Amino acid sequence: PLLIDTDPGVDDALALLMAFQSDQHQLLGLCIAAGNVGLQHTCANALKLCEVAGINVPVYQGCAQPLVFAAEDAAYVHGLDGFGDIGYKPAQGYLETEHAALAIIREANQHAGKLLLVMLGPLTNLALAVRIDPTLPSKIARLVVMGGAVTGKGNTNISAEFNIGFDPESAVIVFESFPEIELLDWEAVLRHGLKHKDIERWLALEHPVAAFYQKISLKTRQWSEGRRGEYWHSADALAMLVALCPEYVIDKYKHYVYVETQGKHSRGATVVDWADRMGKPAQTEIMHQVKQDQFERLIQNALGWSI
Ligand code: BDR
Ligand code: CA
Repeated sequence: PLLIDTDPGVDDALALLMAFQSDQHQLLGLCIAAGNVGLQHTCANALKLCEVAGINVPVYQGCAQPLVFAAEDAAYVHGLDGFGDIGYKPAQGYLETEHAALAIIREANQHAGKLLLVMLGPLTNLALAVRIDPTLPSKIARLVVMGGAVTGKGNTNISAEFNIGFDPESAVIVFESFPEIELLDWEAVLRHGLKHKDIERWLALEHPVAAFYQKISLKTRQWSEGRRGEYWHSADALAMLVALCPEYVIDKYKHYVYVETQGKHSRGATVVDWADRMGKPAQTEIMHQVKQDQFERLIQNALGWSI
């Protein structure tokens, strides 16, 4: 059983398409966070993606704000609506009435010891769920988190990655309460770029999913090409590979990770105890390298290719 918490978002969408293709997992639903853009948009985008892909799973609305302090979104990367402002027709599907945090707790109870929980956005819903039910971490089989910048090379301020930087207080709650976290950080994302030329070829397929993804990702791909050159990066898709196919991880490290909430330049930083000097249990597996060819294969499959 697989439950995904997400703030779609262009790279979230690719990760979700990968999950939709998996025959190894039963997708229980999508929990929606605010992050890349506001909650109304992330919810609408999740419903639309399900409609385009022909997937019928419950979609749970989560928190509209970080737990403590308001934060800036990433509309400059993903478009004002988070899906490239293509003006799509709203989906016909509807949101569940249950809150995302409560859905996480309920599914964790129903699938205690078996649930794979994948976090692709800020950790707000999960932190709230842990505060409501402190026994939650013991019931989750695997927790995969896209977030952090493990040597301080962030993508929002100097040292913070977006998902952690958006809601550092929630990240503290999660990193201090889960005994085992599989972390896919922004610096790993930068090691696994995708050539723009390849992506363009994959998106040229005559398939409704590829056609939709081509449109919603166009703005952010152009934005990225102008800043980062030949390679495009899809953080959440890489995290989804870790979740779905952990056997494709070829290098990882296990250490204690602390989330910084203070500091002018360090709020939201993920501070890794690389030398294990703090005497704290190493709760985080930091994914360093995965099989690039398999990553690319899963993406192509997600876009409708049979490879
Ligand atoms: C993360 O931040 C968001 O903008 C992306 O969707 C991804 O989850 C990358 O730092
Ligand atoms: Ca995301």
